[in-house]
Amino acid sequence: MTFTFAAPEDDSLPLHVIDSAGLKTWRETLPEPQRAWVEAAGFRAKLGETLALPGPDGRPAGAVLGHGDGKARARARFGALKGVAGLPEAAYHLATVLPEEDRDELALGWLLSAYRFERYRVGSTRALPRLKAPEGADAARLESIATAEALTRDLINTPAADMGPDDLEAAVTALAREFDADLIVTRDDELLTGNLPLIHAVGRASPRAPRLLDMTWGSEGPRLTLVGKGVCFDTGGLNIKPGSSMGLMKKDMGGAATQIGLARMIMAAGWKVRLRLLIPAVENAIDGNAFRPGDILTSRKGLTVEVNNTDAEGRLVLADALALADEEAPDAIICMATLTGAARVAMGPELAPFFCDDDTLAAVLSQGGQKVRDPVWRMPFWDPYEAMIEPGIADLDNAPSGGQGGAITAALFLRRFVEATERFAHFDIYGWQPKDAPARPRGGLGQGARALFEALPSVLALDEA
Ligand code: BES
Ligand code: MN
Ligand code: ZN
Repeated sequence: MTFTFAAPEDDSLPLHVIDSAGLKTWRETLPEPQRAWVEAAGFRAKLGETLALPGPDGRPAGAVLGHGDGKARARARFGALKGVAGLPEAAYHLATVLPEEDRDELALGWLLSAYRFERYRVGSTRALPRLKAPEGADAARLESIATAEALTRDLINTPAADMGPDDLEAAVTALAREFDADLIVTRDDELLTGNLPLIHAVGRASPRAPRLLDMTWGSEGPRLTLVGKGVCFDTGGLNIKPGSSMGLMKKDMGGAATQIGLARMIMAAGWKVRLRLLIPAVENAIDGNAFRPGDILTSRKGLTVEVNNTDAEGRLVLADALALADEEAPDAIICMATLTGAARVAMGPELAPFFCDDDTLAAVLSQGGQKVRDPVWRMPFWDPYEAMIEPGIADLDNAPSGGQGGAITAALFLRRFVEATERFAHFDIYGWQPKDAPARPRGGLGQGARALFEALPSVLALDEA
């Protein structure tokens, strides 16, 4: 699938994007037959409402897209895209001047509306109407974002049988090849000799060997390290999940998938950074040699961890990856993980909570997310809860009993492994769109990557290429 705008030289029809307040004025500008048509059709410019406009010969001469009002737009991100698939198949150009953020939302949403997960479906899908890159928009940037988001979704949507640690490695290998990045993979028993014991402990029960993927790219500029939870399937381990909770656990590599997408955007944009992507890729499986509740594991950093629940595996694999990342004290470490159910209870599926001690980074992230309609929300690293992750017979507890403040205690656990790095942010994402919505079909979903792509240049003081 390609996510590109129609070529500038293609024939195209005008697309009007009209909000409720502007409907009347706009109608008056139309030639009489079209005005009568718009009225007869009862077009009210509701968000996502579409109508083709006939020319004198009866063929489509353009189309109008309802933009609703501010309230409707606030309720439905990408809402204007609801009906685009139903427009006459043609290329369109934007005939209405929109504020930059609405324009880019519309353009990106249009590209993303073409996303389908097609790996297991034979047969052709209907071609969609195409859009030319709107004037003033950065077409290459939007196309690259859409391509990266589609990659993220494909990785999440692929069932665990076909997306194990090997397959995740293959995906990162392909990305590294495409952008001439370096990749080092530490597999299986090498994890022990390489001092990544928690990644090994969590992944060792699976016949599909655990590994750490370590990709680096770029040779100058600030160091930016992206860490993503790559649990290819989470059974819960010996503390097995009930069926209802296990059903969606193919998406437990959503953090990795999102970071892979973000890394792709950064490399495609040619940022002057030294980028590092770290993905612990494991399957949290059940077997006689699985790690057990009550085991005490010694992490790469030397901190010991009492395993009170084998289902709190994400923070274990991330702990070693974060410790490794922190050893070179990069300018920023960003962690992404489908880490806790508690984050979902607190925020629901759409809002991605993040934890960050750096007020500047946090503010720029919130603003960036709002600007590109990729909402993220700051949550606190609440120091007084540190005591909750200290069990007594080890340095740390991976699953404090009671589970209160579960997203916060998980974040505090991760923060213990980041000491030398000034800027650290951790996103506890859902990675999943529960039901079909414009530009977001039910299934895997990247969260936070676009917010980061928008925010990071100013945080890292990059002059964007
Ligand atoms: N992958 C899950 C978290 C998860 C569950 C994310 C459902 C999204 C949807 C994670 O590994 C997990 O099982 N966390 C436990 C931690 C608990 C045992 C401390 C949880 O949140 O219940
Ligand atoms: Mn788990
Ligand atoms: Zn998990």
